[in-house]
Amino acid sequence: MIYYIVSGLLIFACTIYYWLKTKYSYWSKRGIVSPPIVPVLGNFSSVTLQKQSYFDLFTEFYNNYADQKYIGVYIGLRPTLIVRDPEVIKQILIKDFSQFQDRGVSFTDSDIEQNLFFAEADVWRVLRHRLTPIFTTGKLKTMIPLVLKSMNGLLDYADRTIGENGVMEMRSLASKYTLDVIGSCAFGVEVDAFSEKENVYREIANRMLLFDSKVAIFRFINSLFPGLLKTLGVKSAQKDIFDFFVNMVNEIVKERFGKPKVRKDFMDFMIELKEQGRVVRRGDDHEKELEITNELMAAQAFIFYLGGFETSSGTMSFLMHEISQNLDIQERLHKEISEVIERHGGVTYEAINEMRYLEMVLDETLRKYPILGVLVRQSISPYTFPNSKISLEKGTSIIIPVYALHYDPQYFPNPLEFDPERFSPENKAKLPSCVYLPFGDGPRNCIGMRFAKVQSMIGLAGFLHKYRVEPTGQTKRHLEIEPKSGTLTSKDGIWVNVKRR
Ligand code: HEM
Repeated sequence: MIYYIVSGLLIFACTIYYWLKTKYSYWSKRGIVSPPIVPVLGNFSSVTLQKQSYFDLFTEFYNNYADQKYIGVYIGLRPTLIVRDPEVIKQILIKDFSQFQDRGVSFTDSDIEQNLFFAEADVWRVLRHRLTPIFTTGKLKTMIPLVLKSMNGLLDYADRTIGENGVMEMRSLASKYTLDVIGSCAFGVEVDAFSEKENVYREIANRMLLFDSKVAIFRFINSLFPGLLKTLGVKSAQKDIFDFFVNMVNEIVKERFGKPKVRKDFMDFMIELKEQGRVVRRGDDHEKELEITNELMAAQAFIFYLGGFETSSGTMSFLMHEISQNLDIQERLHKEISEVIERHGGVTYEAINEMRYLEMVLDETLRKYPILGVLVRQSISPYTFPNSKISLEKGTSIIIPVYALHYDPQYFPNPLEFDPERFSPENKAKLPSCVYLPFGDGPRNCIGMRFAKVQSMIGLAGFLHKYRVEPTGQTKRHLEIEPKSGTLTSKDGIWVNVKRR
């Protein structure tokens, strides 16, 4: 009996061993270098166990294989290709985009994943085509009064709470502002972000940012057995958050009696789309029909809410950190802001467009602190890179290591130094393409880029016109990255001393 049990176990162990060995030889068989793995966890054990941020891990891979164009890694068991070379990156994001339209990040069978960021190629094409007009310059301009109202709310709040010594945490301050903006511009709701009272919009925003262990488990299962959760019809790990957005959309649609208002916010636009019935978009070889339901609208509301407040507030607070450490840059910035505001009689859309130095400082902030440290794509059919023998199977995951590229001294000399001059018009024109990617690139880049820049610049101009920021006694020059966060976040917050001008 013992003999059979031991033999059975041995056969089982050998089968698992050979199965893992075959899985982990995927890249070596294709002649692509690969860092050492930990069985089952692949190359991501330190990130899975939350000991290291993925920003640092990808930078390690990028720097350790400086002579390679490609690095083959395993996320769990899933082979994933890191692309280091800007020319190849351009091929993927722009030139051969039709082969790489998917991100491959949707892994459950849930309506929430039908949003613009997660959606797979067929649905994405229809959505992107239909949602792009919301972000035109004309549309953006009509939203400026709403953004200015939030800016005034920010200034009132800062005035009320600055207190004796003026020490403030910038991320939480900036996220109040961006939450207020996205609430009114996108959904026409008063989020009341600056009130001290707890409110449901802030609570849901905080919950969206929290590291959710259920999401982590789902991701891990998907890395071991890609597609399994979808096949089993498993629903989203964040169902209650999605329910919040579905209820919000149901209420807004009911309140507006299914008809768009004169306000023309994001919800109005979606209601107009819904009234057109099914939307059809011709793909490369077939047509895709999509019915705009309240659930589909809620999925877009979810991603706009998330994209709209968290990324911009992170960027604004990192900028405050850098200028509190670089007072000469802050003084030049203040001079520009004051001069332009005085000339225009206040903060206006036209005034913001003239603040060239503010834009350079913002661009450099996004270089040092790209909120999404990587871009992801997935091949939608077999693909061979031009002038190479490297072939990808359909469904291969690709990672573009944005954070690591932004710290590569061959593109950005002295990368730790905060130097807005890198983004003066002359220097910007000299940057090779696809080495600076804070908003991604190609047809699937960030749809909210202009909105993000304008809302950040308005908030910053208003704030820095009235206040100066200085380091506190405990501020670290180089911030430590929070390993649990999927977006670039400072582990200890961003504390500065705020002084009235
Ligand atoms: C500083 C602020 C922001 C940063 C750094 C940022 C960054 C990014 C990046 C890197 C991507 C992926 C691009 C790619 O894969 O090529 C992305 C996609 C996206 N962003 Fe943003 N974003 C910001 C603000 C916003 C805002 C304000 C919104 C909406 C109001 C938004 C909505 C989206 C959406 C919907 C996508 C998916 C686009 C698609 O797949 O077609 N983002 N963003």
